[in-house]
Amino acid sequence: MSKLNIVILAAGKGTRMQSDLPKVLHEIGSKPILEHVIDCAKSLNPHKIIVVYGYGGEKVKEAFVNEPIVWVNQAEQLGTGHAVQQAIPHLDDDANTLILLGDVPLVDKLACKELITFATKQLVIQSFNKLDPTGYGRIIRAPSGEVIAIIEHKDATESQRKIVEVNTGIMAMPNEYLKKWITQITNNNAQGEYYLTDVVALAVAQGIPVIAKITSDEWSVTGINSKNDLVQMERVLQNKIANQLLQQGVTLKDANRIDVRGELKCGRDVEIDVNCVFEGNVTIGDAVKIASHCVIKNATIAAGSKIAPFTHIDDTLIGENNRIGPFARLRPGTVLQSDAHVGNFVELKNAQVDVGSKINHLSYVGDATIGKQVNIGAGTITCNYDGANKFRTVIEDGAFIGSDTQLVAPVTVGKNATIAAGSTITRDAPAGALTLCRAREQKSITGWKRPEKIK
Ligand code: UD1
Ligand code: CA
Repeated sequence: MSKLNIVILAAGKGTRMQSDLPKVLHEIGSKPILEHVIDCAKSLNPHKIIVVYGYGGEKVKEAFVNEPIVWVNQAEQLGTGHAVQQAIPHLDDDANTLILLGDVPLVDKLACKELITFATKQLVIQSFNKLDPTGYGRIIRAPSGEVIAIIEHKDATESQRKIVEVNTGIMAMPNEYLKKWITQITNNNAQGEYYLTDVVALAVAQGIPVIAKITSDEWSVTGINSKNDLVQMERVLQNKIANQLLQQGVTLKDANRIDVRGELKCGRDVEIDVNCVFEGNVTIGDAVKIASHCVIKNATIAAGSKIAPFTHIDDTLIGENNRIGPFARLRPGTVLQSDAHVGNFVELKNAQVDVGSKINHLSYVGDATIGKQVNIGAGTITCNYDGANKFRTVIEDGAFIGSDTQLVAPVTVGKNATIAAGSTITRDAPAGALTLCRAREQKSITGWKRPEKIK
């Protein structure tokens, strides 16, 4: 393979987004549009990636500080040819260049590979047969079928406007030619712009072959110009991801009602019900069932675990065969070993829960180490925060915490200890014993009258 340079054009303002954010920083699948393009570019192993930026430039650069990118400023947007001209000093003499557009997020890696392979001695453009070609550059072919020019819509004659084969803007060619052609492009046209597309006529005039590779995948060449385009593209991306999951054998109750905003890896026989959102890196093991309306972010859920509806999981490790939810909230730092139950309205934060323990109802367990086979009664709270610092609660194997207990950390409940319901535990509770701490023991007052409403 010969050396590859990739130039991504991203200087357009994106007025129709009606936003202060530069167009290419708007997101699909929770990832900036431009990042999708950069990821595709990186996957092609280029020698260099050059991004031509303009409007909102600093913000765009800041969003990609860790990427190996050569940034080139196009202060005035004088056309695609002018944009590429800004990148010329960075192009390697002995390389080929692939031009990509920064606002086309679903650009297809395989199609790019094809263009690159053909671009060693000629100009290759990617075209598309568009139902309504209005606004696009038309591919002009000689009667023999050879590509002889691209004519922009505004410069086209009535009969040329009837051509439905359009330029996608994606093309590849040897730098040896590009560097020469770019100096020969003028702005003598309807828009007074320097058209990159003029390279086609220049190539033909100089006897360099030009070929157009027609793609049938419209979304892979569709740019985003408005919020309508953005929301449509989001669905296209989500459908693509849903189809990949289905092909891998994941059962989706409705392929149109899943959102994956990151990487979702699934084992065999995973079932996902409607309206679940997956963010960041999520790994799901074999036979895991995820019920409807769950939000799961940066988590691992091991084989056989079942997540009931409306559960939120963030930065959590869930072992095998756990039962979580409905309405549970697992916050960062939480680790569940296997066979635990976490029920409704239970919040866990930085809590490590060992095998077979149960926290079934209405509890807050934060900064806590819970042993094996522990039972935590309804309404139990670990008081982990004194207003300034946080402390840990340790509950050892086999302990039973009665309902409505407050465990004021730092505190340890020993192995097989029992805490009576309604206790406020401020000191360590010894192993094996019953510990209780109530304001006063129960008594009954006979003849007591309920208060009456004041007239
Ligand atoms: C361009 C093509 C047209 C093609 C269409 C596909 C030219 C002259 N025309 O149209 O044949 O059908 O794309 O969408 O190339 N950009 C810059 N600097 C500029 C101008 C544009 O960086 O000065 C970038 C934009 O950010 C965008 C891309 O180039 O990513 C295409 O620009 P856009 O204005 O959308 O396309 P057209 O020039 O109308
Ligand atoms: Ca334009």
